[in-house]
Amino acid sequence: AIDISKLRDLSGYVTLDSGYKNTGATKSAITFLDGEQGILKYRGYPIEELAEKSSFLEIAYLLIYGTLPTQNELDNFQYQISRHTLVHEDMKKFFDGFPSHSHPMGQLCSLVCSLSAFYPESLNVHAGKEEENTTILKLLAKMPTVVSWIYKKGIGHPIIYPQNDLDYVSNFLNMTFGQRTEKYVIDPVVVSAMNKLLILHADHEQNCSTSTVRIVGSSDCNLYASISAGISALWGPLHGGANQAVIEMLEKIKNDGGDVDKWVAKAKDKNDSFRLMGFGHRVYKNFDPRAKIIKKACDDILEKLGINDPVLEIAKKLEEVALSDPYFADRKLYPNVDFYSGIIYRALGFPTEMFTVLFALGRLPGWIAQWKEMRENKEPIGRPRQIYVGEVNQEFVEISKR
Ligand code: ACO
Repeated sequence: AIDISKLRDLSGYVTLDSGYKNTGATKSAITFLDGEQGILKYRGYPIEELAEKSSFLEIAYLLIYGTLPTQNELDNFQYQISRHTLVHEDMKKFFDGFPSHSHPMGQLCSLVCSLSAFYPESLNVHAGKEEENTTILKLLAKMPTVVSWIYKKGIGHPIIYPQNDLDYVSNFLNMTFGQRTEKYVIDPVVVSAMNKLLILHADHEQNCSTSTVRIVGSSDCNLYASISAGISALWGPLHGGANQAVIEMLEKIKNDGGDVDKWVAKAKDKNDSFRLMGFGHRVYKNFDPRAKIIKKACDDILEKLGINDPVLEIAKKLEEVALSDPYFADRKLYPNVDFYSGIIYRALGFPTEMFTVLFALGRLPGWIAQWKEMRENKEPIGRPRQIYVGEVNQEFVEISKR
């Protein structure tokens, strides 16, 4: 018989790495990240070039299928997706059921999971490559519809159905900002900004939400439920929820008189739980290359749209003060992808609570690619160990005698 008291000795055999700071959970050929030098590449292509030259759908194809598509492949991909943009009419009942001001992320993870109920062929993950690909196409196609309907629900407007002759991003913008009463004119500046933001969010190797998708998927769980779990993981303010938290923080600083030094001091105070949102990263210890691109895009887009947002000035000042402070320099804390993205989303007309949902829309191809790679590699079920530190030999005492 096993002597249970000896189980404590497992500490000698199990590696304890809280937060998985140094533990590689998988081998992956999707995204390369060098945190010391601030390098990010999808399938070997630098993020800077992809953000400049590609469309989001092209990047989705690259991440999921491994190569940049030819024009024919891209047209076919777009066509296949356009066949699935509608969501089941009965799903509208879900939208009716949510309180009108419920958080969009809570709605999104429930709605994405519920796709498995409306498209149950997704439940058989062993059905075959073709069936798997159809589920992937359906999810890519339905996500913009679901996201835009969440937005419409929030503002109390009627939903707009997909328009399949539009490209992926324009269709999303049309369903979001279009009205039934007049034609929505799609601004190419907005389309280009949206493409760029979505591309920059499309994958980021084994972050919290992606690891969640892989670990949930490793139990042979269907794609919709696995991605829904990833959406939940993304929601937290230490991860994707930071984009909402950044704007709320900048607004607070503005309304408090714009004293940036005071807020930087607060972030350094170890007795204060406040952190500079949009600052710091588990892997980037130099700078986040996505933040660099977004900061520049922020200036360009606001200028092109003729918007003067006072929080942009506060953000820049905050970055300047923090970067010249030894607290942030010593800990290698730099602005991350979330620091400036919200200012662009806001300029495009999105309310703050939608920001993390937009992150999820961008991250979707990455999650799908990682789920698919995990299945192709036949990875075993994810199941970390622990170091047990509780009692081992307790005598049961009847409730009347406790
Ligand atoms: N403001 C103030 N201090 C910070 C910040 C911050 N934003 N981030 C880290 N620190 C400090 C910590 O207090 C700690 O200090 P200590 O060594 O004196 O204890 C040190 O820097 C290291 O921080 P950890 O929390 O140990 O770093 P970790 O890698 O675990 O966390 C994280 C990374 C979660 C991103 C963290 O930097 C953070 O909370 N940032 C703010 C939230 C945010 O912007 N999240 C988005 C990340 S990007 C993304 O997920 C899309």
